Amino acid sequence: MKSKIFILLAIGLFIIACSTPEIKPDKKAGWTPNMDQHSELALIMRELYDEAILRKSILERGELAKANSQLIFQMITAKPTEPHMVGPAFEPHARAFIASYGELNAARSTTEQIEAHNNLVKSCVACHMSFCQGPIPRIEKLYVAL
Ligand code: HEC
Repeated sequence: MKSKIFILLAIGLFIIACSTPEIKPDKKAGWTPNMDQHSELALIMRELYDEAILRKSILERGELAKANSQLIFQMITAKPTEPHMVGPAFEPHARAFIASYGELNAARSTTEQIEAHNNLVKSCVACHMSFCQGPIPRIEKLYVAL
């Protein structure tokens, strides 16, 4: 029982640690976004997320999308915001993700690519379950209905 409470608490902390802080414009200081404050890994994630949104809309039009991001290979070495955001299980998750990504280009029909895309989204979610729960609801919206 105690360990369950601990696990819930740990998950809670992860969610807090990993949710994107709200950016509040500060009128007095003439606020401009400071892109330096985002980690290498967070920037890669945003690109992959944008790419997945684009691919979703292409697939929903019934067309095949190109998937040739080189960023996926940088995922393993990229620096996270906080060191605790990656751990020993990170690399296997990243490798599974890279393999899944390769399937996108192997797809010869829209149906095949939708399946590959949905598998990829699954591997995004799998890694996020362990390391970064905050964005999961957003990631789950990337699934394409078959
Ligand atoms: C191998 C693990 C892993 C995989 C696979 C993965 N992520 Fe992430 N993701 C993370 C970690 C860790 C962070 C936190 C990065 C940080 O804040 O430095 C993150 C952060 C994010 C963020 C928040 C970025 C921000 O603005 O701070 C989004 C959105 C995101 N991921 C989407 C995705 C999507 C979409 C996929 C699949 C296409 C994906 N992730 C695959 C581990 C992963």
